Amino acid sequence: MSKFQAPKGVSEYFPPLSSRFEFVRNRLITSAQTAGYQLIELPVFEDTELFKRGVGESTDVVSKEMYTFEDRGGRSITLRPEGTAGVMRSVIEHNLDKGQLPVKLWYSGQFFRAERPQAGRYRQFYQVGIEAIGANDPQIDAEVISVAWRGFASIGLKNFRLDITSLGDAESRAAHRVDLVKFFDTLNLDDATRARAAMNPLRLFDDKRPEIQEAMKKAPRLLDYLSNESRAHFEKVQALLTSFDIPFTVNPLMVRGLDYYTGTTFEFVHEGLGAQSGIGGGGRYDGLMAQLGGADLSGIGFGIGVDRVVLAAEAEGLFPDEESVRSGVDLFLIALGNESKDQVAVLLNSLREAGISADMAYGDRALKGAMKAADKSGARFCLVVGEDEIQSGEANLKDMSSGHEQTIRIGDLPSSFAALLLSEKKRD
Ligand code: HAM
Repeated sequence: MSKFQAPKGVSEYFPPLSSRFEFVRNRLITSAQTAGYQLIELPVFEDTELFKRGVGESTDVVSKEMYTFEDRGGRSITLRPEGTAGVMRSVIEHNLDKGQLPVKLWYSGQFFRAERPQAGRYRQFYQVGIEAIGANDPQIDAEVISVAWRGFASIGLKNFRLDITSLGDAESRAAHRVDLVKFFDTLNLDDATRARAAMNPLRLFDDKRPEIQEAMKKAPRLLDYLSNESRAHFEKVQALLTSFDIPFTVNPLMVRGLDYYTGTTFEFVHEGLGAQSGIGGGGRYDGLMAQLGGADLSGIGFGIGVDRVVLAAEAEGLFPDEESVRSGVDLFLIALGNESKDQVAVLLNSLREAGISADMAYGDRALKGAMKAADKSGARFCLVVGEDEIQSGEANLKDMSSGHEQTIRIGDLPSSFAALLLSEKKRD
């Protein structure tokens, strides 16, 4: 065993299976780009106060799961547990909301939560997320949900469902809160639970203790308290999703784990993942920007757990074998004998200059070992070049999957090989 091991509970991806991760992440990103979202790249640590204020102190994420430390200047710093607060901080700081609205952004990267690790739940995990800031139209809610949906569909996922609900506007929540607090008075709650409920009464819907879950079945539901405006908005979102052919279930008991949500909220749940079945979730956060000191603009977004989507795709058998996810180069060069190595290195460089993905066997290997390396690399073609080939100016190009060989003029590379790839592509 190696002396060092990765810290407990982090996810890691290495070849060959890292190509699964790459595939999933790229498809999710492509879906966002296709809908006009632009990249925002943010620091992985921020001022601790940003998350306390943005995400909310009643949440498990802030109260129990943050990686918080003091930096060398005595500032309290936290590794980002989620992406929305940081995006809002950056939008406000750099006046992105002063241009055209909505501001549409995507991000991808590591997030950190000190949770109890288990399959699909990590202390460092990956998200692809989007945020649309500055528009309160039901159409944008439907767009955000459809971007996630199309991302999952483009990966080939099938066994997942979409739950949606609405947390209404401030008026709806105030009306609901009055009755909810009255309802809590009929329950025998301990002090800690009462304190959480005082910070955010909706949290109790999310309490995992069976006795609380049982009691909460009788609690008044926010969906029954929606103002006319909130109800009309939510109905429009549902109608749009129906016209987009996106099936969904209205789940009035759904509570998101972060405090900033208002209005439309949603979660994607995959059937093949056991306890950690949430592959993505999001919603509106209409008060967040003002709360963080910016203009009073609305926003909506989602975060998708890339690690969990990889697990979901594996559970659905979307990656049938290692072979299918090998992301090898197009051409693998083997230098026969030490003398030809320099020429092969130059040839390799010219192939890459021409935009052809290529590699060569490094190290002192006999032909057999080098052929093995070519095979392992997942390359589509292999070319062996020795003194004889350099003399004659011709070498054998081998198709690694069919075994078919053809003679190719070394002097015509890289253009002849580029033409061959093009004709192969047309045939596919
Ligand atoms: P979230 O529901 O906390 O939302 O996280 C989004 C997704 O990240 C989850 O559905 C899950 O797939 C994944 N995830 C969360 N925690 C873990 C973990 N410990 N291990 C593996 N995967 C995990 C947010 O983070 C919001 N910022 C989403 C959002 C954006 N809302 C509006 N805009």
